[in-house]
Amino acid sequence: MQYDTDLLTEDLPAPPGGMTLGLLPDPDALARADYASRHWVSDESGPLRPGSDAHKRACARMFRDTFNPYKPTIIDWPVLGQAERDRLVTLPIWDIAVHTEGHARIRMLSYADSITDPDWRGAVALNGWEEGRHKTVLSNLVAAYGIDLGEEPPYPRPRYPEWAYLVTGFSECIDSFFAFGLFAMAKRSGFFPPELVETFEPVIQEECRHILLFANWVAAQRATMPWWRRIVFELRVAAVWVFLGWERIGMARGMDGGPPQDHNFTVKGAKAVGDGDVSLRQLMALCLEENDRRFAGYDRRLRRPTTMPWLTRVALKVLRK
Ligand SMILES: [Fe+2]
Ligand SMILES: [Fe+2]
Repeated sequence: MQYDTDLLTEDLPAPPGGMTLGLLPDPDALARADYASRHWVSDESGPLRPGSDAHKRACARMFRDTFNPYKPTIIDWPVLGQAERDRLVTLPIWDIAVHTEGHARIRMLSYADSITDPDWRGAVALNGWEEGRHKTVLSNLVAAYGIDLGEEPPYPRPRYPEWAYLVTGFSECIDSFFAFGLFAMAKRSGFFPPELVETFEPVIQEECRHILLFANWVAAQRATMPWWRRIVFELRVAAVWVFLGWERIGMARGMDGGPPQDHNFTVKGAKAVGDGDVSLRQLMALCLEENDRRFAGYDRRLRRPTTMPWLTRVALKVLRK
């Protein structure tokens, strides 16, 4: 398929913290950057206890060292056949995916602005910047394949940045966990051609890094706050889970009568990208397997997100019975 390269925009500012983007012209450089983004071990010795300086340094270092310097405009969107393109265009996820990245960007950048610690501030700011890059990648993909988007909403700065960061972080923990499984399923079923899967792969791995950073930030917060703040923090975390559960149920309900594209992609995605006969059990098992695989290359001493894997293991046990 031909497409107008003028549609491909790169309205990205430079990444924060002195990070640079490269053109990564040769396949070896690309492969090295890809490997580095998936494998990382701290040179700090001993355990990395959340709340310790060593843990904080390791988190910041992990996030910088695993930064993938790809430029969205060098992504060479593969030419798709008519049937492949039609399948892609009708996936009901594009609007919500672009909006989610836009909101995540501003929420993370706003929270980063409020942090005084330079290590956490730098990491969260870079995370926010990467969300902006995801949005650019998605916008370029949408333009390349002629997918129509609805009007974009405004992305206001949140009034309560920490709350917004908590909501965004836990939301990414849920969505990424399912995205790992759905992406693998789409790859296996041939829903996406292999070249498109490879092209999009770094974005999915980046979400894995994001929730790795978030899980360690949460653990460090818990370990360093006085007991009375801890109580408030835990109440906030509980409120976030209730809010996210309500939001997802709301999205699922809206699927019958809502606008055609504004749906929760996890709920609908499995049917769309699977072989047609994928059971919930198989999808959950695949999500777990992919979750373990994607985190396997990072230092074992860093915390991982635990809630979604735990809930899924419990659900699998119940379903087996
Ligand atoms: Fe993202
Ligand atoms: Fe993210």
